[in-house]
Amino acid sequence: MHASASKSPSVVAAAAQYWRDLCARSGSRAATTGLIQAIWSFVRNSTPERQRRLYGDFDFDWEHRVNTMSGGVGWRERLLGELHSLYQPTEPAAFHEMMQTLLDIAHLDISEFVFVDLGSGKGRTLMMASDYPFQRIIGVELLPALNQVAQENLARYQNDSQKCFAIESACADASSFPLPPAPLVLYMFNPFPELPLRRVLGHVVEGLDGNPRPVYVLYHNPVQEHVLAENPHFHKIAQQPQYSIFRVGS
Ligand SMILES: C[S@@+](CC[C@H](N)C(=O)[O-])C[C@H]1O[C@@H](n2cnc3c(N)ncnc32)[C@H](O)[C@@H]1O
Repeated sequence: MHASASKSPSVVAAAAQYWRDLCARSGSRAATTGLIQAIWSFVRNSTPERQRRLYGDFDFDWEHRVNTMSGGVGWRERLLGELHSLYQPTEPAAFHEMMQTLLDIAHLDISEFVFVDLGSGKGRTLMMASDYPFQRIIGVELLPALNQVAQENLARYQNDSQKCFAIESACADASSFPLPPAPLVLYMFNPFPELPLRRVLGHVVEGLDGNPRPVYVLYHNPVQEHVLAENPHFHKIAQQPQYSIFRVGS
C-alpha cells in the first residue's frame, strides 16, 4: 500500500488556482463571482442540519465496518472540495450497474486490466471494484486526510465475494499520477471541474503514446461530459442519465 506522499494543498493556493482557471475561461468578474459562490456553498453546507444529512448514507459502511460516508469530513477538506470537487461516495448499485454495462459491451478479460479511480476519496470504489478479478486496483486521491481514511478502510475491509487483493490508495494529483502500463479501466465520479479535467484527459492520452493499449473510462455523474465528447481520443460507447462510458484510443 502506498504511504501518504503529498502534502495537503493549501486553501489559499487552491482558491488562487480555482480563480485563475475560471478567469482563463470566463473572465475576472465571473471568476470572482464563482469563488464567492464556492465559499458561500461551503458556509451553507456547514450547518448542523446539512452535516447531519451526510451521515444518511450508511449501509455500505455498516455492512463492511468501514468509513466511506461524506459525513465527518473535516472543514478543510470540505472547503478544498468546494474548489476541486466535494467528496461523495458512489452508491454500490450504480457502481455495479456501470461495471455490468462495460462488461456487456466490451467483453473484457478483466484479469488483464488495472482499475484506477481518479479522485478516489475514502476508497469505497476500490473496495467495490475488488468484487471483480482485476489485475490490480489503484485509487488516486488529492487530499491526504481522505487518502489516510482510504488506507485504513482497505486494511480493515473483508468481503467473501472479493476477487482482487492487490489494492492501493495513493495520495497524488490525478493530472500527473503515472498510470500503470497495463490495459486500464479509469473511473471518475465527477471529480474535476472543466480545466482540471482537460489536464487529466491530456495526461491520459499522453500516457498512451508509445504504449497503445485498451483504456475505458467510466464517467459517473458526467457533468463535464462535453470535455470528453470534444476530445477526438474519447469515443462514447454507452450513455445513461447517471453515467457515460468511453473507450480511449485513436
Ligand atoms: C465525488 S468524490 C468521488 C470519490 C470516489 N471516487 C467515489 O466514487 O466513491 C471526488 C474526489 O476527487 C478528489 N479530487 C479532486 N481533484 C483531484 C485531483 N486533481 N486529483 C486527485 N483527486 C482529486 C476529491 O478530493 C474527492 O475526494
